[in-house]
Amino acid sequence: MKYALFSLLLLSAFLSGCKQNKSPELTLSPPVFPTVSESAQEQAQDGKESTEEPPLPTLVSETAPVTSPSATPVPVNTDTTTFTYLVNREYTLSEDFVPEGLMTPDILFPFSDTSIDKAKMVPAAAEALAELFDAAFEEEKLVLYGVSAYRSYSRQYTIYATNLARYGTKQTNQYSAAPGASEHQTGLSIDISCRSEGFALEDTFADTPEGIWVAQNAHRFGFIIRYPKDKEAITGYSYEPWHLRYVGTVLAAMLYETGLTLDEYYGASCTLTKEYLDTTPFIDTTAERYLSIYRQYH
Ligand code: DAL
Ligand code: ZN
Repeated sequence: MKYALFSLLLLSAFLSGCKQNKSPELTLSPPVFPTVSESAQEQAQDGKESTEEPPLPTLVSETAPVTSPSATPVPVNTDTTTFTYLVNREYTLSEDFVPEGLMTPDILFPFSDTSIDKAKMVPAAAEALAELFDAAFEEEKLVLYGVSAYRSYSRQYTIYATNLARYGTKQTNQYSAAPGASEHQTGLSIDISCRSEGFALEDTFADTPEGIWVAQNAHRFGFIIRYPKDKEAITGYSYEPWHLRYVGTVLAAMLYETGLTLDEYYGASCTLTKEYLDTTPFIDTTAERYLSIYRQYH
């Protein structure tokens, strides 16, 4: 088992720099043997587009940090031409970053205009998502829907600021990334749901046949559940069974098998304390842009 795990880690480390739309470049870097990753603190709130959608759920577990299986800090990948780069509160995207080739996957959405940003993903992720959704139907007759994929930095600002104004800092930071810190800006992530959930993004998606199937099969198509249950202290966000991130099939399989989060894989788990996250907004709340949103709710 140890050798199998190590082989997987090594292989995925090799492939983690694979460029988008290119063949794998097998550049060998020395393996780093697993060390136990330290975790940090808590909770989060999704990029639920609160101007259009129901209130954010109240948070969930406040469990102690989880000791991960031995993580293997490979160097953090920040190369946005790959599929495996890390985006979290520490590793962020610039305001002007827009992924190349955004396109609408051939899947169902619960809205009609599929030319809008939130229906788009980068090509490899879009193709893999369509294969995932097709397999769900072919194998189990399950019908999945895409709810929210690409978001610009500016759109994420509006969502985060709206959540802050409506729900406060603690709940917002549990589910919602600040602008620049959202994987939705990569075009590699999408929030998904199903009809029985009313296409909402709720914890209960995890218990639907669709959610269960996705959790068990997404890795076959290169996706991970980016914010898993009981990993809140490591990712810094609440459990989001609806948020998929494309990382390619090699890394997705490895993370699925080991139970590691992408943050742990890179040895870059959240280090902010729960107290900090509960009380600290990640945008300037004195800025006119925020205040104009705040005034709509107060
Ligand atoms: N819900 C995730 C953390 C986001 O807002 O990108
Ligand atoms: Zn999401």
